[in-house]
Amino acid sequence: MENVRFINVKFVKSASKKDEFISDELPQIAIVGRSNVGKSSLINMLTGNSKMAKTSSTPGRTRLVNYFNVNNQFYLVDLPGYGFHKAGKGVASSWDNVMNDYFSDNPNLKLVMVLLDSRLEPTSLDKQMIEYLAANELTSILVLTKTDKISRSEINNQINKVGKVLRFNQNLIVPTSASKKQGGEQIANLLGIYL
Ligand code: GTP
Ligand code: MG
Repeated sequence: MENVRFINVKFVKSASKKDEFISDELPQIAIVGRSNVGKSSLINMLTGNSKMAKTSSTPGRTRLVNYFNVNNQFYLVDLPGYGFHKAGKGVASSWDNVMNDYFSDNPNLKLVMVLLDSRLEPTSLDKQMIEYLAANELTSILVLTKTDKISRSEINNQINKVGKVLRFNQNLIVPTSASKKQGGEQIANLLGIYL
């Protein structure tokens, strides 16, 4: 299949619980990762619109499931970040419930992009997330964010390391920089394969 192009992108809705989730005929591609890793910024890069998804230097900005309709072809779904406990324990468990509801019983979910900061070792939460997705037979790719902060050789080392630590095929680990607008083509290519 051809690279996905982001021609006509519209924000559709924010959902906070299961009965607000979208389950129509369109396929879905979800974006997950720890709070502040760059999920919303990646959406803005891919869609070429810096105002599409709200970004913030304050972790935990995105607390809802946000749906973006791309070309009436699929939904890009921005999920709340994990690892943000500032608001108290209750929020962490409600995150678990919302995510469980989203990931289970969602036949239209074709691919999950798991974002990892290119400068950091994957955390135990990242590992849990990836194991959870695999256990639920969901296909995932890894997206390394903020590569503008490190050198080319550090990027390559990180791809190697992350591939080994998470036992992930290196072809499915994509280095990106939202601020330098890098990596979008490789993602568009992978989305075309999995849609
Ligand atoms: P939550 O919604 O809180 O979970 O965060 P998020 O994962 O959506 O992160 P967001 O896109 O809001 O970005 C968090 C911070 O990282 C912001 O200050 C962004 O400007 C910054 N950031 C995101 N992507 C990049 C990047 O590629 N390079 C650099 N240098 N900064 C980035
Ligand atoms: Mg966000």
